[in-house]
Amino acid sequence: MRKMISDSQIREVAVGDVAGKRIVLRVDLNVPLDENGVADGNSLRLSAARATIEKLQDMKARIVVLAHRGDPNGIDLNMSLQPIVRSMMQKMKSGPCLWQSFAPLEEIHARTMSLATSDVLFVENIRFFVGETKNDEEFSRELATLGDVFVNDAFGVCHREHASVVGIAKHLPSFAGPTILKETGALNRVVDNPARPFVAIAGGAKIHTKLSALLALLRGADEVFVGGALAAAFFKAKKMRIGVSQVELDDEKLAEILLKNSSLHLPEDVVVKNSSGETRLSSPDDIRSDEAIVDIGRNAIAAIATSARAAKTVVWNGPVGVIEETESRVGTDAVAHLLAEIGRGPAFVLAGGGETVDVIESLKLSDFYDHVSVGGGAMLEYIGGGKLPGLVALRNVE
Ligand code: 3PG
Repeated sequence: MRKMISDSQIREVAVGDVAGKRIVLRVDLNVPLDENGVADGNSLRLSAARATIEKLQDMKARIVVLAHRGDPNGIDLNMSLQPIVRSMMQKMKSGPCLWQSFAPLEEIHARTMSLATSDVLFVENIRFFVGETKNDEEFSRELATLGDVFVNDAFGVCHREHASVVGIAKHLPSFAGPTILKETGALNRVVDNPARPFVAIAGGAKIHTKLSALLALLRGADEVFVGGALAAAFFKAKKMRIGVSQVELDDEKLAEILLKNSSLHLPEDVVVKNSSGETRLSSPDDIRSDEAIVDIGRNAIAAIATSARAAKTVVWNGPVGVIEETESRVGTDAVAHLLAEIGRGPAFVLAGGGETVDVIESLKLSDFYDHVSVGGGAMLEYIGGGKLPGLVALRNVE
């Protein structure tokens, strides 16, 4: 039986849909490069994309891969997809894998017509085309000429209304890839009727993008612990002094959230760093004017551990401290290890978000989590109850 995403008409791609046909496959290859300009071919996103490509190769499709890197403003070879594709190609079990540098779509179309069964053509950063992020109608129509069928497997980009995610689906029979089905299946365990107690941990730097997800977590979870910049913002909203900690949210809104949600827990203690680079453990109401909050303290970690160990569902998004410095990623590493330990037991443990996944992967803990999401913003939107345009576009389209 074909898998369906609950409450929708999204269908997973099957062999009869693709055999012998040209498939436009949208994947998410947006991963960082290391200091030598190399992408980690074993990262979660690249492994997921590779598995899907290999599945389509087994289905005898002729595959045209579309993906983006970063947010270039037009053509910018510093944002080329080529180094990432190189890492992908090195790990592919079979080929041939071909590279298509930036060119007019008619030229790329001509190349797709000469693809043989199981060939894979990787196209340069799709965001080099100006029509992509505008979801331009004409560009979407032209993009659709690159294939006979569209398969979207880029869960991490489904919150973007872009041509290679949304617009193209109007013009081709469209299906979901296995990564999308796996993601929605796992996230639905948190969205619909989660096993209780349900504990969530939220942190990270870009807090303005997380407020709707935080509100959704507060609606759904029994307890929500916050760390990172989010905690500093709440302390400020409580009119506490937070020294030179950076916050970017409206105090009144946060103060109201605090007042209305007794399930929201701020850290009992924090690690602060002063202008000379010295760190110390502090109570949140004892932060000096030249200090910034850089991590949660040991009592805060212990409080998270007590609740999370008693939980049946645990969700984590966002580091609870500044992970770029070893001394201030203690709390985040402790949370990563704690949840890996809980994940080995019966509770359902889910984590996601770019930095969170990097931490879990760098500690080699992914296997102990029930699900590590490939989505950052997309995962938060989904948990927050938002309708992801990339998923909506796949509905009812034959
Ligand atoms: C991500 O990295 O979360 C996805 O690839 C989406 O990237 P974007 O935020 O640049 O759209």
